[in-house]
Amino acid sequence: MTDATLRRLSRHYDALAHTYDRALDRIERWLLGEWRARAASIARGWTLEIAIGTGRTIPFYPDETHVIGIDLSSGMLAQAKQRLSTTKALIHLIRGDAQQLPIRHETVDVVISILSLCTIPDDRRALAEAHRVLRPGGTLVLVEHVRSLNPLVRAGQRLLDPLSVRFACDHLLRDPLDHLEEIGFRVLAVERRTFGIVEWILAEKPSG
Ligand SMILES: C[S@@+](CC[C@H](N)C(=O)[O-])C[C@H]1O[C@@H](n2cnc3c(N)ncnc32)[C@H](O)[C@@H]1O
Repeated sequence: MTDATLRRLSRHYDALAHTYDRALDRIERWLLGEWRARAASIARGWTLEIAIGTGRTIPFYPDETHVIGIDLSSGMLAQAKQRLSTTKALIHLIRGDAQQLPIRHETVDVVISILSLCTIPDDRRALAEAHRVLRPGGTLVLVEHVRSLNPLVRAGQRLLDPLSVRFACDHLLRDPLDHLEEIGFRVLAVERRTFGIVEWILAEKPSG
């Protein structure tokens, strides 16, 4: 992956930062239901949220949890900063690349990703990084939009994917399940909703 790809992505989200929440407010309940709050409730100890964006998960984190939120876009992070007053969790916002985390090996208890792996250029590499920084026994929580199991919906996604990738930096045909076990995660639970395009995955990095 080139620096140019990351710069393009970062510019794309910088430009969206002021309108992102308004757009998500309209569809989040339909798309995710309560899954964002459920993901945040699993946070404990040191939690890392990759591609935290405008910090929509921040208000749901339990009090006193240490959360490191990483994102590529300074515009998105500036919006996230405005949410810090809505929480008693201890949030540390960092500009960085989820594919190359500035975090030491096996120092994190929980990694959370919400609607991010569709955008991160190399989703497998971001998952491998999540695995690297998690302590043995640590938890991975994913809430992602993925390719549907329904052939009709999937055909629509196939049609739209080239446009979506080109103009919205958003991949419609990915699924983290393609990579998790090969990277070394043990998948504990999978659920789907919203025509099968949204997936909840709970996984762990096995200890020992
Ligand atoms: C669709 S938004 C999701 C934001 C947030 N997770 C949410 O739930 O609203 C995708 C986010 O991924 C970030 N992103 C994309 N590639 C990234 C990378 N390589 N490293 C860190 N953040 C990245 C973008 O800047 C953007 O904020």
